[in-house]
Amino acid sequence: MKKITLLLLCLAALLTACSPTMEIQSPDGKLVVTFLIDADGRPMYQVSRNDKLVVLPSALGFTLRDDKDGVETTFPLTATFKVQNTTTSTHDETWETVWGEERLIRNHYNEMVVHLRHACGAPLDITFRAFDDGFALRYTFPERFDSLTILSEATEYKFAVEPEVWSIPWRTEYYEALWTKDLASAKDTACSPVTLEWMDGTYGFIHEAALTDYPAQNFTFRGTTVGTYLTPWQNGVAAYVTTPFATPWRFVILTDNLSDMMASRIMLNLNDPCRLSDTSWIKPMKFIGIWWGMHLKQMTWEMGPKHGATTENMKRYLDFAAHNGFGGVLAEGWNLGWEDWSHFDFTTPYADWDMNELSRYADSLGVQIIGHNETGGNAADYEAQLEDAYQYHAAHGIHAIKTGYVSPIIRTVDGLQYNRSQSGVRHYRKVIETAAKYHICIDNHEPVMPTGLQRTYPNLLTQEGVRGQEWNAWATDGGSPAWHTTVLPYTRVMAGPVDYTPGVFNFANPVYPQTRVHATLANQLALFVVLYSPLQMACDLPENYEAQPDAFQFIRDVPCDWEQSHLIDGKIGEYVVMARQLRGGQNWYIGAITNDDARSIELPLTFLEEGQTYEANIYADGEDADWRKNPYSTKISTQKVTREDVLTLQLASGGGAAIQLTVDN
Ligand code: NOJ
Repeated sequence: MKKITLLLLCLAALLTACSPTMEIQSPDGKLVVTFLIDADGRPMYQVSRNDKLVVLPSALGFTLRDDKDGVETTFPLTATFKVQNTTTSTHDETWETVWGEERLIRNHYNEMVVHLRHACGAPLDITFRAFDDGFALRYTFPERFDSLTILSEATEYKFAVEPEVWSIPWRTEYYEALWTKDLASAKDTACSPVTLEWMDGTYGFIHEAALTDYPAQNFTFRGTTVGTYLTPWQNGVAAYVTTPFATPWRFVILTDNLSDMMASRIMLNLNDPCRLSDTSWIKPMKFIGIWWGMHLKQMTWEMGPKHGATTENMKRYLDFAAHNGFGGVLAEGWNLGWEDWSHFDFTTPYADWDMNELSRYADSLGVQIIGHNETGGNAADYEAQLEDAYQYHAAHGIHAIKTGYVSPIIRTVDGLQYNRSQSGVRHYRKVIETAAKYHICIDNHEPVMPTGLQRTYPNLLTQEGVRGQEWNAWATDGGSPAWHTTVLPYTRVMAGPVDYTPGVFNFANPVYPQTRVHATLANQLALFVVLYSPLQMACDLPENYEAQPDAFQFIRDVPCDWEQSHLIDGKIGEYVVMARQLRGGQNWYIGAITNDDARSIELPLTFLEEGQTYEANIYADGEDADWRKNPYSTKISTQKVTREDVLTLQLASGGGAAIQLTVDN
């Protein structure tokens, strides 16, 4: 292993020595991205950090299909390039998010654009950006040249030292799987993103940003090399591109610790600024819903004796929401189509759902109805109804819709396609843009993995793309292990907000008694802080919250839009301690969770304001708490604290702690 690394390092040195090199440094000078081109005109790049090569010379480019004269040939766009010239620039700005984990984000990088021309005459630019916490690159076909049929993308990441990789396999339906860790060489394929851990304590994260009209990327592994695999159309083509065209950004975060990795905002910075002139209608909120009852089989989506979405039941939920400060109530199964899923009608309610009356009632309470548009994967049918559907929802005061695409392969306007294909990506984009026109926010279930598009379209509030809470209602494997939620913040949630739906208060599962939530009550509370979503659902039934009002108080109090967020402590797959400050406020909220191992955590409060006293409301596991034996045991206490204090949190197996720190005036 060592020998190979040495050989590769020599090779890299040789290449650097005999080729024209062009490089940029991160603003702090610690990360250097170098562009290389060999004697065959093969473009490559390498990256060093703290004077050590991290990414060895790695391939760039594409394989195209040439359809000229009716004959299909493959055409590599990976060699015979010549550098025309390069341009460099520096960028430093701070921008304000409409909502987010942070209000203000600094975007500071150095950029180099390498202008290339291929032997066939095709111009290609490769733009590199070096940030203090990572790097990014993207391809641009800058001129009107030709329509391109892209078969594959050559971008690779040849790591000098083999990392361990947290990932899920690329074919994972809807990204709903447990993430696993293994050496890169032991991995096969992965969905983007992946999280990397090196022995020396360095962390990494590879993903893409600004995915708009291109297939979602996936990864292949060969030794220490991570390769790109674009989700194909059903005919095997990766992308049809009309030039000028820019691909999504490919980026890699590299940091010395987990907290810095979590704080990286490279993905959002690589997306275009907000395109909506008015965002005042976009409101993060907590919500409840006629939902968990269906997953527990106590209610049905379709009309019948156990129908969940009835006028009467919805009024009960709306009352509960108004009484407890929730912004909205989701109702699934309100519209025609649930009997056989062959065609959903997004403007016709079931006979026992009075939309006009409910719209009036919700408005009188100051609570929003959250719509639900399950498509059963028939995206084409949805697109045909889109304008009418959104007009109908907006006319009834509905400004947030949960969309759904339950079907491993969806039917787009281009026929059956992977939802992560270029065709699927186009559909999801159309939904967001059309929704914005009607002032509708989207919670996208069965999505394409998020890539930071919410910067450009902040009405894309949240997405699923995760093995969420619902698996704890019906999964035949018994429910997600306790460590699952201690992996998600460092993996899936790095790609964007997650509609995981925390907040189970009743752990009995009469339908599938072997399946259950592997967590304590305090853990469920902590998830509201740990798993970020600006549209945050409290998933359990109102009666289960009413039964435990003391613990429920935390859910009533916790916000879902933040001024700043910090990972205080954690280890992937073991535990997480997050601290977040209310947006535009002074109060702080802490969420700490652990895997199956009970542990004691020291929490220094140094992030609090100097000279200020806070009242800490602590929702902790009781002494005898344990997710298997006693998930309900909770100890709620109050004490005064300052930034000099260190709290000791005792987390039970599958346990957690949730803390509200309120300024004491
Ligand atoms: C799967 C979604 O994730 C879930 O939240 C929803 O209830 C069902 N589909 C039905 O649309």
